Amino acid sequence: MIDKTVADNRLLHGGDYNPDQWLDYPEILKDDLRLMKLAKANTFTLGVFAWSALEPTEGEFQFDWLDERIEAIYQMGGRVILATPSGARPAWMSKKYPEVLRTTENRMKMLHGGRHNHCFSSPIYREKVAIINRKLAERYGNHPALLMWHISNEYSGDCHCELCQDNFRNWLKKKYGTLDKLNHAWWGPFWSHTITDWLEVESPSSIGESMVHGLNLDWKRFVTDQTIDFYKHEIVPLREISPSIPITTNFMADTHDLIPFQSLNYSEFAKHVDIVSWDCYPAWHNDWEETKDLAAKVGFINDLYRSLKQQPFLIMESTPSGVNWHDVNKTKRPGMHLLSSMQFIAHGSDSVLYFQWRKSRGSSEKFHGAVVDHDNSETNRVFQEVSAVGGALEKIAEVKGTHKQARVAIVYDWENNWALNDAQGFSDSTKQYPQTLQKHYQSFWKKDISVDIVTLNQELASYDLVIAPMLYMMSLDTISKLENYVANGGTLVSSYISGLVNETDLAHLSGWPATLKRIFGIDVKETDTLYPKDRNTLTYNGKQYEIKDYCTIFERKEANILATYMEDFYQENPAVVENCYGKGKAYFIGARTEQAFLDDFYEELQKEGNLDSEREILHKEGVSVQRRDSAECYYLFVMNFTEQKQAVTLKESFFDLLTQEIKQEQIELLPYEVRVLKREK
Ligand code: GLA
Ligand code: ZN
Repeated sequence: MIDKTVADNRLLHGGDYNPDQWLDYPEILKDDLRLMKLAKANTFTLGVFAWSALEPTEGEFQFDWLDERIEAIYQMGGRVILATPSGARPAWMSKKYPEVLRTTENRMKMLHGGRHNHCFSSPIYREKVAIINRKLAERYGNHPALLMWHISNEYSGDCHCELCQDNFRNWLKKKYGTLDKLNHAWWGPFWSHTITDWLEVESPSSIGESMVHGLNLDWKRFVTDQTIDFYKHEIVPLREISPSIPITTNFMADTHDLIPFQSLNYSEFAKHVDIVSWDCYPAWHNDWEETKDLAAKVGFINDLYRSLKQQPFLIMESTPSGVNWHDVNKTKRPGMHLLSSMQFIAHGSDSVLYFQWRKSRGSSEKFHGAVVDHDNSETNRVFQEVSAVGGALEKIAEVKGTHKQARVAIVYDWENNWALNDAQGFSDSTKQYPQTLQKHYQSFWKKDISVDIVTLNQELASYDLVIAPMLYMMSLDTISKLENYVANGGTLVSSYISGLVNETDLAHLSGWPATLKRIFGIDVKETDTLYPKDRNTLTYNGKQYEIKDYCTIFERKEANILATYMEDFYQENPAVVENCYGKGKAYFIGARTEQAFLDDFYEELQKEGNLDSEREILHKEGVSVQRRDSAECYYLFVMNFTEQKQAVTLKESFFDLLTQEIKQEQIELLPYEVRVLKREK
């Protein structure tokens, strides 16, 4: 598929706009246009959840209101991202065709209501979606205001109805061909679970089977494929009628720890969208972590979604203030809105879009942050801060389309996360695969070293350093990919709980896989899982570091020992090793360490690989510098994620795009202040 880009040279600023909620309020609709200009907003996402306004009764369509809004936005100089409305459907449809509604995992048929409550298999739902999407494409596909298609909304969830069971069985037949193969992959004889007829296959359920790991894994894979299949069905008329308009669907994160969304494999989904877009809602100013630590997590997840296509992405939703669904919905402190918006751009976004333009008057989102509050005023603080972001985006518009370049990659694998979370063993409360990756990432974020977060589909050869901790599930293909990478000169870091099962979640036989033994020069024997309060210690370079949760017990073969355990029955055994393999090097970190160890360990690798040689800005912890590059120049986003003033030293002189001044030597950043500095190459 050809990657398309958004045909507008501005950084996008605006967001979800729901005039369909305000059709009885002409004054409000009129005021929207005035306020949009004042907010320096240029892009609006229309039509998300607008099906009942578009097709109030079956087969009778009403587009006048949408015609008028799109035209008005266009006349104002704005552009439109048009959504297909399949995320929620009109009540008449659920009533007349109950098959469109979901069946839950405990085989309960849902009533009409909520959203994202539809069956991805239902032929009727697919037919209804095809009709409305074609109508939208025919009417707006060639409208000059149309910038992009936004398919549905935050695809998620699964359906366990009979239609979906049939599709699952067919998917399995295609994958395995024979029941023998399926039974082997699922370890059938265990608890007498051998299947003798495809019709005996049932999706995982809390009232039925939930402990066959191969089944669970395949169900998740199927749900991803089925969701993508539904998406592909949605885009048929759009591609046909408006082939040059890029298509996206908004991805998500799981919010408390801001880790990748769990239940769909976005590395598969990303192959089918033209541009990755996603909805980012960090809990700024929370009471469990420091601003800088949350900022590093935001960096991690943006780098992951950017790396899915290795091109600029879009922030499709964010909030100007707070949300309505965190445990505590705290508002952003003054300055945080500009800082956090610039952080998106710094990590490769070409937009700052919001949910939502205007606070709805009723229902569950009436107190969710918005650009325009119930006071309908442009004088309140939030509106003013939004408008300041609009102004800043205009000043830095030239960064649009520029890229980030990284020599370091961290591997994140969705399927590995599924399998590891499913594994009964270790400790459910401490597995924390994505959180562990965030910790490794921090050691680079603190040093302003760009990192790509890649999946196993992606090429590794261009990276100097590949970090792949906790890769519990490794197929033989993955292992040979890693072997090639190291043999050809790459540096690889692995850790505890790696290489234990294959791609169907069956344990590797004959101990740790032979190729891994060769790459790392060790033989892994046991993984010791500790209680949350247990501690051990390792010594590395003459210093001691606390370790917890997991300790791998392994035999050294060819590897050099870098650290040893200080306590317990594996006292003095190796804890961290390095091994030369082919033209490259491999490191194995046997235990979960405190952050200081990762920082010191990676500092050695950073020096050895000359990874931080280009640092031109020096600062204390809590300031982050992120870089985007064009052919002629580069941009450094200097961001203060602390509540204190920060002195920052510039080794070169730069042009500050926000203040339009030359900056050199020493500058001071106020709490939450951000600078965007430019320099010719
Ligand atoms: C999601 C949805 C939006 C809205 C926001 C609220 O991202 O896509 O429709 O509900 O959450 O934060
Ligand atoms: Zn279904």
